[in-house]
Amino acid sequence: AANGAKAGKTRNIVEKLEESNKDCIIFYGSQTGTAEDYASRLAKEGKSRFGLETMVADLEDYDYDNLDAIPSNKVVMFVLATYGEGEPTDNAVDFYEFITGDAPQFSLDNEPALGNLNYVAFGLGNNTYEHYNSMVRNVNKALENLGAHRIGDAGEGDDGAGTMEEDFLAWKDPMWKALAEKLSLEEREAVYEPVFGIVERDGLTAESAEVYVGEPNRMHLDGTPKGPFNAHNPYIAPIAQSYELFNVKDRNCIHMDIDISGSNLTYQTGDHIAVWPTNAGEEVDRFLAVLGLESKRQNVISVKALEPTAKVPFPTPTTFDAIVRYHMEICAPVSRQFLATLAPFSPTDEIKAEMAKLGGDKEYFHEKINVHHLNIARVLETVGKGHKWTNVPFSAFIEGITKLQPRYYSISSSSLEHPKKVSITAVVEETRLPGRDDPFRGVATNYLLALKQKQNGDPNSSPFGLTYEITGPRNKYDGIHVPVHIRHSNFKLPSDPLKPIIMVGPGTGVAPFRGFVRERVQMARNGQAIGKMILFFGCRKPTEDFIYEKEWEEAKQVLGDNFEIITAFSREGSKKVYVQHKLQQRSKDINDLLEQKAYFYVCGDAANMAREVNTLLGKIIAENRGIPEAKAEEIVKSLRASNQYQEDVW
Ligand code: FAD
Ligand code: 2AM
Repeated sequence: AANGAKAGKTRNIVEKLEESNKDCIIFYGSQTGTAEDYASRLAKEGKSRFGLETMVADLEDYDYDNLDAIPSNKVVMFVLATYGEGEPTDNAVDFYEFITGDAPQFSLDNEPALGNLNYVAFGLGNNTYEHYNSMVRNVNKALENLGAHRIGDAGEGDDGAGTMEEDFLAWKDPMWKALAEKLSLEEREAVYEPVFGIVERDGLTAESAEVYVGEPNRMHLDGTPKGPFNAHNPYIAPIAQSYELFNVKDRNCIHMDIDISGSNLTYQTGDHIAVWPTNAGEEVDRFLAVLGLESKRQNVISVKALEPTAKVPFPTPTTFDAIVRYHMEICAPVSRQFLATLAPFSPTDEIKAEMAKLGGDKEYFHEKINVHHLNIARVLETVGKGHKWTNVPFSAFIEGITKLQPRYYSISSSSLEHPKKVSITAVVEETRLPGRDDPFRGVATNYLLALKQKQNGDPNSSPFGLTYEITGPRNKYDGIHVPVHIRHSNFKLPSDPLKPIIMVGPGTGVAPFRGFVRERVQMARNGQAIGKMILFFGCRKPTEDFIYEKEWEEAKQVLGDNFEIITAFSREGSKKVYVQHKLQQRSKDINDLLEQKAYFYVCGDAANMAREVNTLLGKIIAENRGIPEAKAEEIVKSLRASNQYQEDVW
């Protein structure tokens, strides 16, 4: 069976559309849940505004060879995120390879192959990356070449500029107009219809064995979790050790060693580990309180899809508390459209008008909500002025709030040295904002901080410390554990240990390079000859956030001249010194090493640092080889294409 096949379910799109009576299938290629979310929103809007029978589908759940057999009175939508270096998301790899492949084989002999297909396309990308929105661009091109008919423009959302949501909103209105015309759809007064029904289960309590109180799936509920551990099934891993790399002025950086020896998980140096976080107790309480669900939080409910093609995004029967704590991204930025959806359910007319204004006015929304980093519960608290939002059907929250997503970390250990121990190097996300007494705090990193504090028995080090349910569902985790899975990456050391390497990794960008350096130290200890390594590291001050300083010294003792660390301290003197300045100073050496086929690696901040380093490398090549910058940029591109230049940026 192909990837993702589930017993008894068809992988045939045409059959699926027919048997479920649908006019429109919305495929998503999603890595962090946003594309999936947008797909659901399109499905909902199509139904409520135009009576279009829509369904959402994971690209990996279907075959694509009969895209040509979809009748021309139906439409296929593609909501496609681009991941990392212009790659498809994990669930879209097969589709991407099929559709952009040399000669995709379809079920019929149509000429052109997709002459019957109507499609709509929106891409989610980040303009700080080299291959901006390449997924939607390439798929769109492939579909056009195969003769398919696009309706509306191929939209592009930009996470880099922070305009994703607005780009999506601006794209979809003209698209709906074009689609309505093409399929002769009548627009009607949008009425909210819940996608999910909530049934209270009187006979059950949160203690009942069949009730999910945070277990991600049946195996975990039964107490017999087993592999494969992946994005649908985390391994609950013991934490071997955790400590702070630094803790100054409200900035903390955590090192954590995670023991995967009890699982069949494997990793290679340079891979990523995904951490499945839990929401902070304070935010769970806030959310349940503003909805008036506090006293019902432990009530057992079943959630049923009222639509045959909708999927309940968590296992049930469960409790309100568990849904909110373990399965909903309740702290994330709020979408403007979601506020408009909630407006009719406001507790008073005045509040309804304010919600409608927030939903409709981009600038007003930005000024009132965005700049303060308000999450949904904080918005409802503020706008609702003490009223509870008991009129909103709970289904609206299940539909409108993303599934709680795992966060990725560049593994900072070496699999050669520790094949069953994975290290994380994470800086705790905490931002002070004007007009708020408590800082904004990131979900996963504060959860990791709490785990670290619990493991070491430290008191909360911050006055605003958050509390977490860290013993897991039903107190099942004895000792300190964290749910994880591994994601394999292409960010890898050269297979030849003699090849020189240049690493650029300021801040936590140094994480994978700790793995690289430790790997080569281990090789050297095993008697292997290794190539030259230069690490460019940047931080604020040597006394503040110079992470792994001792480890670099130890590496030097083993590797001697073959390892060099070059530091850039940005807040030590009167002028900022960044890794770029240091790269420039070593311009000639870098060019020489590249000519000796050195690998060049960059890790960390995608928005500025990685881009600037990319540009600088072009300049370095130009000045040392006496060639025009345009020519040097071509060389940098070809270095990337041949994997001699690799990035791991976020
Ligand atoms: P979140 O809660 O996810 O918040 C993150 C950001 O989202 C906030 O700073 C803010 O800008 C925005 N945001 C969230 N909620 C709101 C709101 N309500 N309003 C407005 N804005 C909001 N990090 C490391 O420290 N070390 C690593 O080695 C590392 N490696 C990575 C590798 C990869 C491939 C990727 C993709 C990311 C990596 N990261 C790494 C980043 C990491 O995955 C997390 O994004 C980071 O730790 C923050 O997670 P969090 O849950 O604490 O913050
Ligand atoms: P700063 O915060 O003092 O500006 C790790 O975060 C280090 O990266 C810090 O020293 C930080 O400096 C620095 N940094 C910030 N922006 C950068 C950029 N565009 N390029 C390189 N380093 C940067």
